[in-house]
Amino acid sequence: AANPSLTGKTVVITAGPTREALDPVRFLSNHSSGKMGFALAAAARRAGAEVTLIAGPVSLATPPGVKRIDVVDSREMRDAAERAADLCDLFIAAAAVADFRPATVAEQKIKKQDDSEEDVVALVKNPDIVAGIAARSSRRPFTVGFAAETEKVLEHARGKLVRKKLDLIIANDVSTEDGGFDSDRNAVTVIDSTGSETLPPALKTELAERLIEIIAARAFAQ
Ligand code: C5P
Repeated sequence: AANPSLTGKTVVITAGPTREALDPVRFLSNHSSGKMGFALAAAARRAGAEVTLIAGPVSLATPPGVKRIDVVDSREMRDAAERAADLCDLFIAAAAVADFRPATVAEQKIKKQDDSEEDVVALVKNPDIVAGIAARSSRRPFTVGFAAETEKVLEHARGKLVRKKLDLIIANDVSTEDGGFDSDRNAVTVIDSTGSETLPPALKTELAERLIEIIAARAFAQ
């Protein structure tokens, strides 16, 4: 059913993994499929929003009517997100940004050292994209994050809500069958400063509709 709860609103969503180069042929990444972020983009569009989807490397079709910006690494995602966020009302960070990247990117393919059985890669921390946007003092959109956890799910998610200064966080138990990175299904709890609401396990596409309704109500209720 049509739900015009986001008519006239501009929404920016990050989705998928990032890839952090080690050398010209190798990278660090993770198993994020991008499905949750893409489903949210489709649902936000159906709810009447103008939607920009900033996508890491995924193999998913762009939802109809959604503007997509493809990026590869975390700094490209940050730059695209900061630019798009200047003009947006709602920012949803669904991307699984790599926490660290190799401190240096080798210009040539790194060679095995025949005489050694181990090697060490120095890593540096990546920028926290959603925390940067939530920390703005002007042009700050309503800011939503995700917390994928394997234990103490609500406690860890509440910690992230506060630490990253988010308006709302969607906690996701990735240790269960009904959730996780590459799954079509998900089970989540929506948390903000006023409390929490647990949604029954559902397809990510169904969940996205419900999440967009909840977010729209909290962000833009008159
Ligand atoms: O700290 P953690 O990675 O668990 O936080 C998850 C939330 O923060 C997600 O919304 C994710 O998209 C966002 N995030 C980000 N930039 C990072 C790391 C996480 O925007 N570098």
